[in-house]
Amino acid sequence: MPNTVDTSLMPDKIVRSVEDLRDVVACWRRDGKSVGLVPTMGAIHIGHLSLVTEAKSRCDKVIASIFVNPTQFGENEDFDAYPADEAYDVKELLGADTDLVFCPGCDDVYPEGFSTIVSVTGVTSGLCGPFRPGHFDGVATIVSKLLLQCLPDIAVFGEKDYQQFLVICQLVRDLNIPVEIVGAPIIREEDGLAMSSRNRYLSAEERALAPELNRVLRSVADAVIEKPADCERICSLARSELLEIGFSSVDYVGVCDTETLELLKSYSESARVFGAARLGPARLIDNLRVE
Ligand code: PAJ
Repeated sequence: MPNTVDTSLMPDKIVRSVEDLRDVVACWRRDGKSVGLVPTMGAIHIGHLSLVTEAKSRCDKVIASIFVNPTQFGENEDFDAYPADEAYDVKELLGADTDLVFCPGCDDVYPEGFSTIVSVTGVTSGLCGPFRPGHFDGVATIVSKLLLQCLPDIAVFGEKDYQQFLVICQLVRDLNIPVEIVGAPIIREEDGLAMSSRNRYLSAEERALAPELNRVLRSVADAVIEKPADCERICSLARSELLEIGFSSVDYVGVCDTETLELLKSYSESARVFGAARLGPARLIDNLRVE
């Protein structure tokens, strides 16, 4: 269905300064409204919109933020290429019942002299951590700022970035930030590929191969249920299979504890399979619960 929201008619639905954001939130608070936050980097797709729906089912008002956060991109990553179309993104978010879109400018988020880094240890030591040095510091810092700027009742994050979700749960616990962190399920294309802003980097040929990551991870989940003591061998075979299929490199395939992300040699009751692999210009990640 075409989206008919004309954002030029709704300037009051977009705020760019923390001051304006806090004015709106204060007004809602005076009216006794609860507030949910959905942080994004734009390039909005149905996965993002599902987070808005989740937040709206729990809160009276929903704020979505759009900020492509430079500090979470490594030197050789895609910051400069990251898709940016604010008008489209705002239209999509408002069309999905977002009440306010917060689009801060980079100089406001990181003014000259900005010197604080929020760094979470433990859950960041494995999986994407070693492959993206500094990434989770960037995420933890921006999300801490967004939470403190909005002071929402809840903030919703996708399990697509499961390690990121745990990083945020940890920082909120450690820093006593008074917000409930809600995890939302991964939204997938019909062929199983997890939706991602980065999928648009894929050529038609690469796009046809991309769902194989999910298929291979599902086969790992099935195999470790059959042979719980064989996690390492099963994951090693899965890495080889992804390379044979045509992925250019595989950062990891692993079975991890759902709370600590510790790599498991033997399948326990609370485990998830995680994978990250490169296909042409895109680095794809995916995960699923073993059950
Ligand atoms: P971004 O990649 O734009 O994702 C924003 C939110 O959407 C994250 O919580 C992410 O996990 C969720 N998401 C992405 N794809 C999804 C899918 N297929 N199904 C469900 N949820 C999905 O993640 C970030 O931005 C940034 O790191 C951010 C948290 C905004 C900090 O800069």
